[in-house]
Amino acid sequence: MKWHKLKKHRILETELIKNLKWSYATKEFDPSKTLTKTDLKIIKEAIQLSPSSHGLQPYKVLIVENPEVKAHLKQVAWGQNQITDASHLFVFCSYQDLTEDHIDELFDLKATTYNKEKSTFQGYISFMKAGLKNKTPEARRIWNSRQVYLGLANLLNVCAELKIDACPMEGFDTKQFGEILDLNSKGLDAIVLAAVGYRSKQDQFQHFPKLKKPKNSLFEIIS
Ligand SMILES: Cc1cc2nc3c(=O)[nH]c(=O)nc-3n(C[C@H](O)[C@H](O)[C@H](O)COP(=O)(O)O)c2cc1C
Repeated sequence: MKWHKLKKHRILETELIKNLKWSYATKEFDPSKTLTKTDLKIIKEAIQLSPSSHGLQPYKVLIVENPEVKAHLKQVAWGQNQITDASHLFVFCSYQDLTEDHIDELFDLKATTYNKEKSTFQGYISFMKAGLKNKTPEARRIWNSRQVYLGLANLLNVCAELKIDACPMEGFDTKQFGEILDLNSKGLDAIVLAAVGYRSKQDQFQHFPKLKKPKNSLFEIIS
């Protein structure tokens, strides 16, 4: 019975669930606290390990540390203090288009990683390139932009595990971010941000109860 209870407890409350209950979208960061190099490395690895459609990872993540650049970005992000007060600002950018070059790049990497000839994957390469042509440029752009949210989710989860605070943010002007960070020349669009650092003791939001839809509204079992 005791074992059963323990097992039940473990299922209901994994470490991840506990950490997710601890974390929240941080509004006020303590500007005196900075991420360590090790923490930054772990966060980057969690993003790197994120899944993406066909494994294409059609995005790049800019990590802004420079205080002047952060101050400039804040002006075009509703003046949100998280941008300047958090230790690091992750700017998730997706490729404006997806080209045959991106597919070739993936399969060059695959051939090297698996120690095989690229031609081994020719069938799959042709299938992917045909799929690319079937999508409009706008559809490709949207499809790329969706992939970044999986990287964002892994960032939020790993931060919670490390007891590091974060705030996901879409409240910014994409076009002006692009200009400040010179994203057009890199073929990138800024999609979503994550301010990462340590919560201020003054941030009232950390004391608010979690506001989440009840499970019976969020899920429906089709049995
Ligand atoms: C894609 C996305 C964009 C968001 N944009 C902002 C934002 O610009 N500013 C902000 O303070 N919070 C932002 N949030 C935080 C949400 O408001 C917050 O996640 C939500 O209210 C739930 O709170 P919780 O994350 O603490 O559970 C964003 C969250 C997500 C996922």
